[in-house]
Amino acid sequence: MNEIIEKAKCFHKLDKEEIVSLLKNNSINKELFQTADEVRRKYVGDEVHLRGLVEFSNICKQNCLYCGLQKNNGNVERYRLSEEEIFDFAQKAVGYGYKTLVMQSGEDGYFSTEKLVKIIKKVKTLDVAVTMSIGECPKEDYKAFKEAGANRFLLRIETTDPVLYAKMHPNMSHENRMRCLKDLQELGYETGTGCLVGLPEQTLESLADDILFFKELNADMIGIGPFIPNQDTPLKDAEGGTFELALKVMAITRLLLPDINIPATTAMETLDPKGRLIALQSGANVVMPNVTEGDYRKKYLIYPGKICLNDTPAHCRGCITGKISSIGRTVSKD
Ligand code: 5AD
Ligand code: FES
Repeated sequence: MNEIIEKAKCFHKLDKEEIVSLLKNNSINKELFQTADEVRRKYVGDEVHLRGLVEFSNICKQNCLYCGLQKNNGNVERYRLSEEEIFDFAQKAVGYGYKTLVMQSGEDGYFSTEKLVKIIKKVKTLDVAVTMSIGECPKEDYKAFKEAGANRFLLRIETTDPVLYAKMHPNMSHENRMRCLKDLQELGYETGTGCLVGLPEQTLESLADDILFFKELNADMIGIGPFIPNQDTPLKDAEGGTFELALKVMAITRLLLPDINIPATTAMETLDPKGRLIALQSGANVVMPNVTEGDYRKKYLIYPGKICLNDTPAHCRGCITGKISSIGRTVSKD
C-alpha cells in the first residue's frame, strides 16, 4: 500500500507535504478512496444519515464571487418563505421521516434574530434536530439561536487562504469567518465547515491547508464540493473544480478525521450522475436531500445544473433511499 495512505489509515495524521503528494499523485486514487471507505466503515458504520434541507430564502446581502445567489445577480427571482411556509415544509419533511432539518438561506437581513428564534422554537416542537446554515452573525445571535433550540451550525470556511478568501469575498474577512466558527464552537454547537475545490488560483498546497484546518478546528462535519462556475457571476469563465479532486479532498479529510460526519454533496452529483454514491463509497456518510417544496427549489440556484430541481421532497426521499440500498448501505433511523 502507498506509505502515506497507510500512515493516514493508522494514525489519522499527515503533514502538509504528505497531503500535497496524495493530491498530486493520481495513480493512488483508487487506493485512497478504498481506504477512506474502510475508515468510514470502521468509525461511523454503514448507516447513512439523511438531513432535510429547507432553503428558506435566496436573498443575500453578500457578493461572494462564485455564488449564484450573490446580491449583484439580477437574474435570480428572489423569494423568502413565510414563517408558515417554513413550518409547513418542516412538518412535511418530518412526515417523510427526516429527523434532522437544515435551515439554509442567504444572508437575508429580513430574518431578524427575533424572527429566527421564533421559527427555530416552532420547528423544534416537531422533535427534530435543527441545523442552521445562514452565514455570519454576531455571537449574541448565535447564542439566541442556540437557546431557542438550534443544535448544529454549518458555515464553510470556503478557503483557508486569506488572500484568496479576500479576493472571493468582497467586504468580508477571513478573520470574521474564523471568529464565527470559534463562537459557534464555544457556544456548544456541533459545528460544520468545509471548502470549495477548484476556485481560481487555488493550489493543492492551499487545499492541504484546508484539510489541516478541519483537523485543527476539530469540526463535527465537513462539507466539500467542487466549485461550479455560474454564468451570472464574475467567475462565469473560470474553469471550476473537478469531481475527482473534490473527492480526493473529501477522502483525505475522512482519513484525518475518522469519526466526523461527511456529506456526499449535491455539487458532486452535479458533475457526475453517480456522484453522491461514489462519495458515499469514498468516505462520506451523510446526504442532505432538498425538502423545499414547489417552485422555490428552482430559484435557489447557487450553481448551474443543480440536481433534483423538478423533483418533490417525497420523490427525493424515495430516490435517495433506493440509491443508498443499492450500494448495500442503510438509512439511519435516528
Ligand atoms: N459551486 C459550488 N458550490 C458553491 N457554493 C456557493 N457557490 C458555489 C458554486 N458556484 C457553496 C458554498 C456555500 C454552499 C452553501 O454552497 O461553499 O458554503
Ligand atoms: Fe432528488 Fe434523486 S435525490 S431525485
